[in-house]
Amino acid sequence: MNLKGRSFLKILDFTPEEITYMLDVAADLKEKKKKGVPVDFCRGKNVALIFEKTSTRTRCSFEVAANDLGMGATYLDPAGSQIGKKESIADTARVLGRMYEGIEYRGFEQKIVEELAKYAGVPVWNGLTNEFHPTQMLADLLTIREHFGHLKGIKLTYMGDARYNMGNSLMAACAKMGMHFTACTTKTYFPSAELVAECERIAEQTGGSIRLTESVEEGTKNVDVIYTDVWVSMGEPDEVWASRIHDLMPYQVNRSVMENAGENAVFMHCLPAFHDLNTKIGKEIGAKFGIQEMEVTDEVFESGQSIVFDEAENRMHTIKAVMAITIGMPENTVS
Ligand code: CP
Ligand code: NVA
Repeated sequence: MNLKGRSFLKILDFTPEEITYMLDVAADLKEKKKKGVPVDFCRGKNVALIFEKTSTRTRCSFEVAANDLGMGATYLDPAGSQIGKKESIADTARVLGRMYEGIEYRGFEQKIVEELAKYAGVPVWNGLTNEFHPTQMLADLLTIREHFGHLKGIKLTYMGDARYNMGNSLMAACAKMGMHFTACTTKTYFPSAELVAECERIAEQTGGSIRLTESVEEGTKNVDVIYTDVWVSMGEPDEVWASRIHDLMPYQVNRSVMENAGENAVFMHCLPAFHDLNTKIGKEIGAKFGIQEMEVTDEVFESGQSIVFDEAENRMHTIKAVMAITIGMPENTVS
């Protein structure tokens, strides 16, 4: 398997075998990290990290992973560069491509990261766009595989806004890996018909399936993974909070959802999560709408079924794997 020079822009661009390879490398790098075995085979190289939206996990994962691989990392924050304001994406790509061995981009439309990849001449990694969040998918798949021992046949239900980056990406990841994906939400929040059709075609080949349902009872019955995400994503206007809370509160992940899924089901969330009022936005929204919790109750978030912090840790190991594989690893570095 040789993915040297490839960009990592969306899960749909990769075969199930390539995805499995990335997970295997990530698992190996994780084990090496735990044992203190150095993996700094990218010594002397550098990566640029462009963030047009804020981040905790993705930024820290790229920085720690780059450091572990022996690389330098330059962080470009949402305000501190010329990108998109004084300099086009194509020009930025050609400048950074001369200085760095790889470029991470988090921002708005998918077409921006695609454009960056077209002109950079080095691998570009999508650290989240409005449409997709592929590095999150690798972490989620690794976490599910670690927990259940396999991916094929796993039933995953996504509740909430299923037409944005997380819903889209999970549907694609499940289709690729022969898993059974359900979007459980109101019709307005179903992924686009076009993407559903594409994922259905993939699922036919892999033995997976795609289901869209408005019924919480049906959509969450006896599934392995209950997954949710924030109801309002980065870059969306504050005005949408009222309608989102109204539309999506019936799809909140609470005790009855987890009971319906079964005692062996796990709860996952890409994070950050509004599960209490211990955040600035959580407090403001809580006071304005008279609610204590949003997409997930604190009870479920803190329960033994919640594997959200294993999932967060795996962001780093999987991002390390993506960088190492696409920049290029010496042969036999990974067992
Ligand atoms: N899950 C995720 O991408 O988190 P950050 O926004 O903190 O990077
Ligand atoms: N849907 C969320 C995901 C955050 C990791 C957002 O785009 O803000």
